[in-house]
Amino acid sequence: MTQTTVTLAHPIDFATWRVMTRALVSRGVPPQAISWQVATDGAPATSPPDPSPGAPGFSVPRESMRLAAAVIQSMLPGRFTLAYGLIHACATNTEPDPTDLEHIRAAAELVRAETVRLRQNLLTLMQPGAPLHASFPARTFAPESNARFITLQLSLMPWQLALPGRELHWTGESLLYGQADPLQVLAPDSLPPPVLPLVADLDIGRITSLRAVALAARTCLICPMARHATRTVFGEGESTARMMFVGEQPGDQEDRAGRPFVGPAGQLFDRALEEAGLDRADAYVTNTVKHFKFQPRGTRRIHEKAGAEEIAACAPWLAAERRIIRPQVLVMLGATAASALLGRRVTIGHERSRPIPMEDGSTGMVTVHPSYLLRLPDENTRTREYARFVADLRLAATHLAPTP
Ligand code: URA
Repeated sequence: MTQTTVTLAHPIDFATWRVMTRALVSRGVPPQAISWQVATDGAPATSPPDPSPGAPGFSVPRESMRLAAAVIQSMLPGRFTLAYGLIHACATNTEPDPTDLEHIRAAAELVRAETVRLRQNLLTLMQPGAPLHASFPARTFAPESNARFITLQLSLMPWQLALPGRELHWTGESLLYGQADPLQVLAPDSLPPPVLPLVADLDIGRITSLRAVALAARTCLICPMARHATRTVFGEGESTARMMFVGEQPGDQEDRAGRPFVGPAGQLFDRALEEAGLDRADAYVTNTVKHFKFQPRGTRRIHEKAGAEEIAACAPWLAAERRIIRPQVLVMLGATAASALLGRRVTIGHERSRPIPMEDGSTGMVTVHPSYLLRLPDENTRTREYARFVADLRLAATHLAPTP
């Protein structure tokens, strides 16, 4: 049997393992015909062969891919062969070797337990300093696959983790790994996904960087909407903004663009801001819910109101935005934002246009949502209501502290 050697860039090079596994399984190469080796001295990883035109495609159950990614994070000798064997068995509809499967499951369990331990103890392990530093008696490569979790939990600040036989170091720009200087750069995309979802374990309340919160929110899959929408649409603006505007949820165009208030309601909002003498660039603009909820109708996606479940799932993101920005004035655009932020049912007609002291010391103000103005059927009402909206924005700005 001809032997194929595959060189991986580093001991947890899941990306090369995955692409080579795909290529070799589709060519029918059995596990025993492949030697997996890790490059030394920064030698390049094997590049995938050109796709072979006649090779049959195959799909693998998600659970098997998860197990394969987990075993690669273990330090089991032959873990790449074991992971390959699992995928090969799925693709060829054969039973994986029971002993191999037992080893894979045990290794995955060890990785899971270590992931839990690392995540639970991270904040107490880290000693202050620049970089933040800790040591962790890892028996697996879970710290490497959780580097993104660590970085987000530590608000993108540089950190260093001393691990048995190696160092893991986030410089603030890149992730380094190795035994001694110079450490090797680890491409985050080459690492296996952690065995547990990122967001559920993050202590969002401890993240101090707006960018880290936004990055974490982009991986959030807590509510079902996240799976339908194209992307998370996080808030936009500087963390020093003195005014914060909160809408309901991104619409169709916001979902495509990945930015809040850029569609028709956003354009109306921009015009009203300008007429009120405000500059959107000085404000922070966000939504109560960060994903577009819709009903597909033919090729169109029809907006559907966000419900209590989605509002609750997104509440930690909105709370983090408020905590980090600490706006002086918080403008609630419409009933969804007002109810979520005031924690009670709100009727816009009763509550609009008056200052509301918020628990964080900011001044809240409720007004209509710009989409409401777009829906008004007759021209006169539209003109009158638009003028009231502009007046509300102007009024809200009067609650800003005077600038020196
Ligand atoms: N409506 C909202 O509430 N938010 C947007 O970002 C767009 C439309």
